[in-house]
Amino acid sequence: TPQQVTIPVVVHIVLDNPDLVTDAQVMSQIAVLNNDYNATNPDISQVPPVWQPIIGNSRINYCLAQRTPGDEPTTGIVRVTTAPGRGFDISGGSPDVKYDKSGGSDAWDTQKYLNIWVTRLSGNYLGVAAPPGMGYPSEQEGVVVLYTAFGTTGSVGRIYNLGRTTTHEIGHFFGLIHIWGDDNGACTRDDGIADTPLQGDNTYGCPSFPKTDNCSPNFPGIMFMNYMDYTDDACMHLFTAGQVGRMRDVLENTTRSLMS
Ligand code: ARG
Ligand code: ZN
Ligand code: CA
Repeated sequence: TPQQVTIPVVVHIVLDNPDLVTDAQVMSQIAVLNNDYNATNPDISQVPPVWQPIIGNSRINYCLAQRTPGDEPTTGIVRVTTAPGRGFDISGGSPDVKYDKSGGSDAWDTQKYLNIWVTRLSGNYLGVAAPPGMGYPSEQEGVVVLYTAFGTTGSVGRIYNLGRTTTHEIGHFFGLIHIWGDDNGACTRDDGIADTPLQGDNTYGCPSFPKTDNCSPNFPGIMFMNYMDYTDDACMHLFTAGQVGRMRDVLENTTRSLMS
């Protein structure tokens, strides 16, 4: 079993009214992350019995940063007031929210902090990740989460209201891809994780178990309650041991400096 680690987090709230996301809302999100990454989430018992034995516990903990990069005391929460309607333009790929000079908020040293930007997103996106080692400029590494899909209170909406978007995006940050392998319904590409079943495409809503598809036609079917699917927040409950292995590998080899 991996050792407990705690990663300092800075949350940048970049909105025309950044006070919409209160400190309490930020703390509700941190609490969700600590549950989901330690398999202590209250809904873990809803994992079907057949998959209970492969529930993964990453022992990754998250805390709001207590010191700034300049070693001043901080809440770990930065609020920046930006122009109305401004946010993260995914299609244009323009990371304005990640830079002071374009009305956003500069990352804190991405070697030392996990940066989370909470903002608007173009289209219907809930979140997007810029994982380490994927060619992003280092000052863009981190995750962006829609302000209505962040935490469990305050400005959060109705379906993505249990903080699982951030759980999912940090999964990407630590090297996970979607559980269906991003191959548009085919069974050709896997997620590269041995203990997750093959799956054709993403799953929305809240299916009942068991659910099979063309790639996993037999019981127990697809693992739609995995954090790396697209189901509703209330219907996602686990990372597998295999997924945890991947995340710890990235953490300990690529982002080791986050651990100290
Ligand atoms: N669509 C987003 C992505 O691809 C996140 C989906 C999160 N799902 C959720 N139930 N919160 O990264
Ligand atoms: Zn995703
Ligand atoms: Ca798999």
